[in-house]
Amino acid sequence: MEGMKELCAFNRLAVIGAGTMGLDIAKLFITKECQVVLIDKERDTLEKIELFVRQNWTEEECSRLVIQTDLQRLNDVSLIVEAIPENERLKKKLYKEIEEQLSSEVVIATNTSGIPINQLSSELKYPNRFIGMHFYMPANLIPIVEVIKGNETSTLVVQAITDWLKGLGKIPVVINKDIPGFIGNRLQHAMAREAISLLEKDVASAEDIDVVAQYALGIRLLLNGPFAQRDLNGLDIHLDAASYLYKELDNRTEPSKLLQEKVADGDLGVKTGKGFYEWALPSKEIRKQNSQDLESLVQWMENNNLIGFKHSKRKEG
Ligand SMILES: NC(=O)c1ccc[n+]([C@@H]2O[C@H](COP(=O)([O-])OP(=O)(O)OC[C@H]3O[C@@H](n4cnc5c(N)ncnc54)[C@H](O)[C@@H]3O)[C@@H](O)[C@H]2O)c1
Repeated sequence: MEGMKELCAFNRLAVIGAGTMGLDIAKLFITKECQVVLIDKERDTLEKIELFVRQNWTEEECSRLVIQTDLQRLNDVSLIVEAIPENERLKKKLYKEIEEQLSSEVVIATNTSGIPINQLSSELKYPNRFIGMHFYMPANLIPIVEVIKGNETSTLVVQAITDWLKGLGKIPVVINKDIPGFIGNRLQHAMAREAISLLEKDVASAEDIDVVAQYALGIRLLLNGPFAQRDLNGLDIHLDAASYLYKELDNRTEPSKLLQEKVADGDLGVKTGKGFYEWALPSKEIRKQNSQDLESLVQWMENNNLIGFKHSKRKEG
């Protein structure tokens, strides 16, 4: 692939899909002084974003952002970040449209939550330029980005993207196998499946289950992942517990009826005012407060040297 060897920084890029993720991803790049073209097919969405950024971003940040509905003027970007809905057919259709106008060395990254990269790149003319770059919400605050290599992804692209993410202050984790859900979403869904099952079985209220997850597990997870925590607890103890507990855990292979009913009833969470809880404030305010709290937490962890590979000297046993 001509030109790939020169990949090093992506200072001019486009983000396609200006929803929950796309705007925060654009904000991250803008604060790191990149020039960003933010594209969404909905004019209304872009009008709201334009108003929002004018009220909340600095003049300099606004000057680095171009907002548009069409896929034109992409000829000077070196990276496209796709953040449209989690629908394989829609994503592939978009790739076909953009590939027609991009030179072969422009990297295309998808923010998919878990659709395998090989599946998404199967109809691309140049699958070697395609990569998974999975941010967590809010993308400008959560340090981890999962980087997923498809079978055809060029190793130069993987290297360039991970180096660049590090330069932006992120912690890229390269996923060795292109499996659905990558790492974070598999762990998240395993926990959510068990939590919903406990609720369905009436073991405790949603709030009590949340509180146990937050203040028994979450608070420790901030310091130690599941492996380090098992080492702290003792692997013999873990084996004893796992021996009787695994067979008790929920292992259904379809989403629960409770979840399906809530979605069918339009109870989608903060965006509709009701999900597992009832939310009195508008979703924008709830999300804003959540982002502010997360920002303080990340800042505190950074100040106390508690973020990233802090135990880089530990060796895997
Ligand atoms: N929401 C999350 O917490 C989260 C976290 C990580 C990853 N993701 C992934 O990020 C992607 C986007 O998720 P989201 O939550 O931001 O979705 P969203 O529905 O909030 O936003 C998607 C945006 O894409 C626009 N869009 C749809 N088709 C388009 C097209 N062809 N061209 C241009 N714009 C188009 C829509 O108008 C919408 O504004 C998905 O793949 C999702 O799985 C989401």
